[in-house]
Amino acid sequence: MIIAGNWKMNPSLALAGQLANALTVRSFEPVTRILFAPHPYLVPISVRLGGSDVRLGGQDCHQDLSGAHTGDVSAAMLRDCGASVVLLGHSERRANHGETSALIAAKAAQALAHDLDVMICLGETLDERRAGLAEQIVIDQLHASLPTNLPDGDDSLHGRVMIAYEPVWAIGTGEVASVDDIAAMHQAIASELPKSQNGHKAPLPILYGGSVNADNAKAIFAIDHVGGALVGGASLDATAFDSICELAVLQMSKS
Ligand code: 13P
Repeated sequence: MIIAGNWKMNPSLALAGQLANALTVRSFEPVTRILFAPHPYLVPISVRLGGSDVRLGGQDCHQDLSGAHTGDVSAAMLRDCGASVVLLGHSERRANHGETSALIAAKAAQALAHDLDVMICLGETLDERRAGLAEQIVIDQLHASLPTNLPDGDDSLHGRVMIAYEPVWAIGTGEVASVDDIAAMHQAIASELPKSQNGHKAPLPILYGGSVNADNAKAIFAIDHVGGALVGGASLDATAFDSICELAVLQMSKS
């Protein structure tokens, strides 16, 4: 299981330092923890995380190697600043920055080429769900957002690409998708993911995101094809984040 915290544009540097210190207090192995920090904080946070098992990630990167892109950040820069993973295609970037799935695929290819693993976010809006289009929208996003160099049977990128299903209407609202809706969507995504050659490699993990907290995480983790959580608000509370990680450890001990 993977538990990722997405701080978004929220904590001050002082709070970020406190949260990072709290993450180093104990390990939650075999759960993998990832922290998506604001770009200016990557270097100081990577110093604080030190030799801990918490992976550090950026919240976006540019699709080009380098160039005249004022205000943007390249995959190589993230790598140089201590990140080993990058979050791509978050619905806030799709909505606020007009990012298309094709652009996200290009960013993913650039990140993978620079030794960054990628977490690609998918999710439908409330209108799309009400119109009965949720599954179609998410599966279309999945196919168009995956880097094209990830065909069936090519195991080279397995373990380097993670999927996060985050229904837009569940983000920051306190409203979580129902167990049935999460189960159906994760099953649909799992069945569309590139197949591993000979089934030797584990399938790409599919995380759920959207108002995950210490009270609802247990039920979410018990759902088939849920490989962890992408946590926004609750990742800004060290105790809540630890509790979510503990529930993931518990789930892993059962399966
Ligand atoms: P919340 O957990 O605050 O709903 O945010 C989810 C999210 O967008 C994580 O990327």
